[in-house]
Amino acid sequence: MTVDRQSVRASRTVPNSLPASTPFPAIAQHPGSLLSVADLTLDHIAHILARASALESEDPLARAHRLAKRKIALLFYESSTRTRTSFELAAKSLGADTTLVSSLSSSIEKGESLKDTGLTLRALGAEAILLRHPNSGAPWLLEQVTGLPVLNAGDGMHEHPSQALLDLRTILACLRSGVTAIAADTLSGVTVTITGDILHSRVARSNMLLLPRLGAQVQLCGPPALLPAMAAEVGPGIRIERDFDRALASSQIVMMLRIQAERLAGLQLDLDEYRRDYQLTAARLAVHAPAAHILHPGPIIRGLELTAEVADGPQSRILDQVRNGVAIRMALVERALNLHTSAVSGAAQ
Ligand code: CP
Repeated sequence: MTVDRQSVRASRTVPNSLPASTPFPAIAQHPGSLLSVADLTLDHIAHILARASALESEDPLARAHRLAKRKIALLFYESSTRTRTSFELAAKSLGADTTLVSSLSSSIEKGESLKDTGLTLRALGAEAILLRHPNSGAPWLLEQVTGLPVLNAGDGMHEHPSQALLDLRTILACLRSGVTAIAADTLSGVTVTITGDILHSRVARSNMLLLPRLGAQVQLCGPPALLPAMAAEVGPGIRIERDFDRALASSQIVMMLRIQAERLAGLQLDLDEYRRDYQLTAARLAVHAPAAHILHPGPIIRGLELTAEVADGPQSRILDQVRNGVAIRMALVERALNLHTSAVSGAAQ
């Protein structure tokens, strides 16, 4: 069985392509923005994790006064279940008003540009915008033209920083329970194996940029078509291990990724071969990684990158990740609106 979605994509025009020469600043300009994990110092990360815990345990009625009647727009050019819902629940639980603009039910369908959509949302009173967009770099453009804090909810194949932060919170709960300090050696001795479609994964990239800064080794695993050798050059602390069983044997955390059929653009994959070599099964786990914690950013495709037995099994932390998404995104929305910002200024470490 093969998968080829080129014909599906060919009929769909991707809106708002960014000119290659657009001069984007390397880091976010607004202190409340989160465009890339590279925007964050270790102090910022510690602060976000601490606020996530504080807000999560706060009385809901008190929490609902924090951002009462502040206005946040959720601008989604791609489908989402976890990110959109958890950002919305997070903002609402802080008392903010949210509005969702999605590309399929707005004037984006009529050809309105990202710039004009952003300016319109600002004129309507939005004080921050959460953006998911198929084009890498779109959040930088939106921040530049609106001057508002922008939270990157996933841009093309580039970054998904809030996902990496919730993954970090999940990993810390699994392996460093009770640890509150965040330092360059917090995850020293930990190997996180990310397996699957690394090439198209913004989740993989954000984790590759984040986890080694806390001392983790990131091990990438997958076939060359989905994991080019140059992936190891994204940053320090990253290596490639093509043999999945060997990768499992050295891992405390195993993060599985789905094959992003919507981005394959003609790439042919033999899925039977893929399952044989890279599917996470209960038998594989029992032999090679009986104590590892299993993560997956979702959506999961049962029977492809992992079996239902693994997804529902005792080593799965997939729903913990989803729950952690709400706490982390409460902290990010609060930070976006510039409250509790004692640690949000300063250059990335
Ligand atoms: N992890 C993630 O981004 O999931 P959604 O696409 O459902 O938001």
